[in-house]
Parts: sequence; C-alpha cells; structure tokens
Amino acid sequence: GAPVEADVSKLAAGEMMTVEWRGKPVWILRRTPEMLAALEGHEQRLADPASAEKQQPGYAANRHRSINPEFLVVIGICTHLGCSPSEKFAPGAAQGMREDWPGGFLCPCHGSIFDLAGRVYLSQPAPTNLEVPPYQWLSEAVVRIG
Ligand code: FES
Repeated sequence: GAPVEADVSKLAAGEMMTVEWRGKPVWILRRTPEMLAALEGHEQRLADPASAEKQQPGYAANRHRSINPEFLVVIGICTHLGCSPSEKFAPGAAQGMREDWPGGFLCPCHGSIFDLAGRVYLSQPAPTNLEVPPYQWLSEAVVRIG
C-alpha cells in the first residue's frame, strides 16, 4: 500500500486522530507533558518496557516509543486477537480500573491494558506492545506513514 500523510497541526495536546494505512487504523496521539510523565514509574509491570522483543522500528525502542516524544504513532489493533482498543486516558483509579495503571488503552474484547505508549502490561492476553508502523516526519506538522 501507498504511504499516507497526516497533518497534526490541528491536533490539540491530549487529542488523538486516526488515519488509515494499508487498511489498518493508525493512531496519532499528541501527548501532554502529564501524559509523558505518566510513562515513568511502572516499567517493572510491563511485559516489554523497551520494546526490545518484537520487530519494531529502532525509534520505537525507548520509553515513549516514538521519534518525537510528544507524538505517539501506533497501529490501533490489539496484539491479542485484533480487536480495537479504546482510549482511556484518565488514570486507572479514576475509571474503576487497577490503581497502578496510569491510563492508556483498554481492549474491550479480553481486557488487555496498554499504557500511553502502547506498552502492554504483564499477564495480559495481548502478548506484545501495540505495533509502531514505519513513519517519518516531513515537517514539524506532517508525518508520513509507510
Ligand atoms: Fe484484545 Fe483479546 S483482542 S485482549
């Protein structure tokens, strides 16, 4: 499939947009400073905190799993059986979820939880982190996926 370009200039901090690439939803989340801070402190509860296990672009192998820390670019398909996880950006305790979850994504099918970098928690049905697609920034506001 052809690459797709997305203009993120109208995306407010804390908002997410979806673009379609190769028939898959690609999420672009503009993280707030609070969301970035929430990526720390729970590494020991994650299955693969450094994204070392799976075939991923090299720029995904860091805490924020992205080129520009502010923008998460990730394929919005659960790595368990392919359901579409939901946005749950408030901390877990505020949502009646486990208190050690700083919020992120929740898969409605079998309950896998991911953090705000798409990193999966230990002992979830989903075996690996959400997949980061190949992408590059063409300018500060335009990202090309694929
Ligand atoms: Fe997401 Fe099973 S498909 S937890």
